[in-house]
Amino acid sequence: MDKIIVHGGRPLSGFVKISGSKNSALPILAATLLTREQCIIHSVPDLSDIHYMLQILSHLGAQVERASGTVTIQADTVQTTAPYEIVRKMRASVCVLGPLLGRHKEARVSLPGGCVIGDRPIDLHLKGFRALNAACRVEAGDVKVFADELRGSTMNLEGRQGPTVLGTDNVLMAATLAEGTTVIEGAAAEPEVVDLANFLIKMGAKIEGAGTRRITIEGVKELHGAEHAVIPDRIEAGTFLVAAALAGTEVTLRRVNAEHLNAVLNALADAGCKLSIQKDTITIRGGGTARPLQLITEPYPGFPTDMQAQMCALLSRANGESLVTETVFPQRFMHVSELKRMGAEIALDGATARITGVAQLSGAPVMASDLRASAALVLAGLVAEGMTEVNRVYHIDRGYEMIDEKLAGLGAEIERVKQSA
Ligand code: EPZ
Repeated sequence: MDKIIVHGGRPLSGFVKISGSKNSALPILAATLLTREQCIIHSVPDLSDIHYMLQILSHLGAQVERASGTVTIQADTVQTTAPYEIVRKMRASVCVLGPLLGRHKEARVSLPGGCVIGDRPIDLHLKGFRALNAACRVEAGDVKVFADELRGSTMNLEGRQGPTVLGTDNVLMAATLAEGTTVIEGAAAEPEVVDLANFLIKMGAKIEGAGTRRITIEGVKELHGAEHAVIPDRIEAGTFLVAAALAGTEVTLRRVNAEHLNAVLNALADAGCKLSIQKDTITIRGGGTARPLQLITEPYPGFPTDMQAQMCALLSRANGESLVTETVFPQRFMHVSELKRMGAEIALDGATARITGVAQLSGAPVMASDLRASAALVLAGLVAEGMTEVNRVYHIDRGYEMIDEKLAGLGAEIERVKQSA
């Protein structure tokens, strides 16, 4: 398993190009199952999660070709079972359920396991499928969904922890081919849901309200092929903004959509960073000591849970005490114990981290866990005294395209050490 070694203390400056969004590309690639015609998707990031999704689509019978950032897919005849040995590697595989149900009126997918950020139930996905007149059953670790015909209806998909992103995606995809009108109340409004809806509309789907809590879909008989470029990855962009806030002098991000980052940009401005926003670039001046913050993660457009760990790294060196409360995945604090190994002073109280800023972090060997926690450890290493060794970086490779090369391009002293498994 590879590891990343960072020597702290180097200032960051220059330009970094943000890749296409992982969390937009995954459901959009799944959506190509809704048509027998060819689809072409651009700006698809080169990530292990994307690789797993393409593996699943191939296993289901689709022809898949990848040429750098462009993926061409044609699913003219597909089978409808996604097996455990592939699904277990990536729980987002669950988003093939909706398109298979929509196109073939049946699907069987291994139940996604939990993961380090907490239990990852799909009860709301199944609630939505049942509202479309499908039957859902769990058998031998698989979830089976099937229907004689899909009929649109009005449903509410909001759960105890708020809306479900992939649940909204799944039901949205199935509803495009259901009889009649479907209204999804309590829908997720993330930019990645809007991007999926825009792709489905290009395929001939009739969708209104994507990006709000109420999405209306008029079912159609079939969908045709389409070409689409995936939106920039707002979480990768946020991660590099925090890197610059910690270690920057001045860093410019290219190919970003600043509108998708309002909550993050407001938090960084409150922490004392200077930001300049142009059409598709953001320049940040950071590197000083951050002001402490009180942050609460919320569904979009609130502060994103996927940026919580990175902000904990920044606030570990703030000038005072910060509070970070996680409402989407209340257990999502795997990074805390590792940051404390680097000298951070963090006390967990339920779903709230109380962070007392320290003047200096110290490099240490640390263990990556979930995708964003691992990125937070690399960020902390940029400013820690001495060497930080982040092990099990396969977690990072799931969601960040060449993060070590991109950070090195900004002046960080960082290298990837390949290790036999
Ligand atoms: C998506 O996961 C993202 N993944 C996650 O990003 C992100 O953290 C999450 O949305 C929240 O924004 C992808 O898009 C591939 P949810 P998703 O369903 O859709 C509960 C990353 O780092 N819930 O919105 O699986 C759930 O337990 C990843 O890139 C139910 O109770 O998350 C959680 O508490 C991590 N029942 C909350 O809802 C359900 O049926 C939000 O989960 C579904 C979810």
